[in-house]
Amino acid sequence: MPSPPVWYNPLSPLGSAVHYVASLSPKFNWVGIYVLKGRFLELGPFIGAPSEHSRIAVGKGVCGTAVAENADQNVSDVRSRKNYLACGPETRSELVVLIRDGAGPDARILGQIDIDSHVPGAFGPDEEEAVRKVASELGGIWPA
Ligand code: SME
Repeated sequence: MPSPPVWYNPLSPLGSAVHYVASLSPKFNWVGIYVLKGRFLELGPFIGAPSEHSRIAVGKGVCGTAVAENADQNVSDVRSRKNYLACGPETRSELVVLIRDGAGPDARILGQIDIDSHVPGAFGPDEEEAVRKVASELGGIWPA
């Protein structure tokens, strides 16, 4: 592997990514990684309140929509999304960034980084860019 990212702990590849992302902004109140297994997203390491959504079908909620549409989701007001699956009553905005095994059009989706914020519109271009960088780095060292 090329030199690993600064946040990377080989003993806890996904956990170290979650810790690093959570450290990027005080507005990131819940950070987790969902791993895509077949037609379901399964919750891996997370920081924040326990979520009842430990398994989400592709196409359901903001998380499942990201996979179904093969597109990151930046929801500035979760109340505007009819298919939103509430994780905590305080959540006002959410960012889902897909983790892929490459950068090309044929890249496979491995999972996603999901972030909830209590602040409306918490995710601007800077936040998106920072989280996408981690997702890209993680895709390159994804634990098999
Ligand atoms: N809000 C997500 C569910 C995951 S929780 O936020 C942890 C969704 O709508 O898919």
